[in-house]
Amino acid sequence: MFTHLEALPADPLLGIIERFAKDTNPQKIDLGVGVYKDINGQTPILSSVKQAEAQLLDQQNSKAYLGARGDIQFAELMSELAFGQHHPALVAQRVAGLQTPGGCGALRVAAELLVRTKDEVTIWVSDPTWANHIPLLGSAGIQIKQYPYYDYDNKSIKFQQMLDVLQQIPEGDLVLLHACCHNPSGADLSQAQWQQVVDVLEARKIVPFIDMAYQGFGESLDDDAFGLRLVAERLPEAVFAVSCSKNFGLYRERVGVVGIITESASQVPPVISHLAQIVRGIYSMPPDHGAAIVRLILSQAELKQQWLQELQHMREQIQQTRESLVSIMSSLGHDQFGFVAQEKGMFSFLGITPQQVHRLAEESAIYLVDSSRINVAGLNVKNLPYFCESVAKIL
Ligand code: LMR
Repeated sequence: MFTHLEALPADPLLGIIERFAKDTNPQKIDLGVGVYKDINGQTPILSSVKQAEAQLLDQQNSKAYLGARGDIQFAELMSELAFGQHHPALVAQRVAGLQTPGGCGALRVAAELLVRTKDEVTIWVSDPTWANHIPLLGSAGIQIKQYPYYDYDNKSIKFQQMLDVLQQIPEGDLVLLHACCHNPSGADLSQAQWQQVVDVLEARKIVPFIDMAYQGFGESLDDDAFGLRLVAERLPEAVFAVSCSKNFGLYRERVGVVGIITESASQVPPVISHLAQIVRGIYSMPPDHGAAIVRLILSQAELKQQWLQELQHMREQIQQTRESLVSIMSSLGHDQFGFVAQEKGMFSFLGITPQQVHRLAEESAIYLVDSSRINVAGLNVKNLPYFCESVAKIL
């Protein structure tokens, strides 16, 4: 049965983790997968998370099943974080949210719901988008098309071209938008651009699917959710996926939320029932630990305050690194990297060729994907000078 299967190449991002682990160069740097690293190259457990875990260890008195919806209070608290406490969609009870294993689980569960709603579902994704969007949505049977987004030559968003294509999209199709910290480009829509996009979606009756994996890593928790909040205020229906991997540093715990904005409160129970049935048929129930941690943090003022400070620290370190990268490259005679300081979140394209990417790995043990996307959160005051000198060498 399995004899004809041939080994597949490693996932480009996860393959880097293996190649990096085998490299013995003490100066090696992994800028592949998007994880925050401190000055020692470690991905620390946030102290708010540690405290919540201690509480769990002390107080949790059962490991009995919670059910396909997972932790209901967690999902409610996450909706408040995403939308802000008094958002009209929350007040009108038009938000159906459910715990999932990470943002990936949320994307897949939403995709399965969408293919239940009609025979052919088409979603338009940005060119480029996060590579895993394609299998997560496509494997559920959704057809995927692209709208123009990042201009590699000018290091900016091709906004007019994006709008022109959105204006041609047939009614009822979906458009996937990154709420903030666009992965892989780091180029985000301004608030004025969000308004224009939502005007088009409204006029064309296009349903937005907002992926928010980096809330708090761009400008602030509120600013980063601007697009999601606008969509939920102005449009009758929307889909969203939220991840706690980055902002709570809970990567391997797999914590996320899938959500649907419905036209009215009466549609929430049927939507939840379908989501729960889909979950039961894929993985039955989500893992509890990570969601319980987030619930404890968000429901206790002191712990929440501490988490907010830790999140701010990560955000500021990334922004500082972006600025230092630009100034060090400039001092080495390369003035073309100013865009890195304008972009947001974990990622930016360096704008070098795949051959140059390979030379960085071979000559300096610096690993990134062929597209030249770097995980800016993997750089810091200690390794940045070496990184910049190595880049200058291959330019
Ligand atoms: C990334 O793009 O590096 C992250 O979203 C992690 C992942 O799972 O790909």
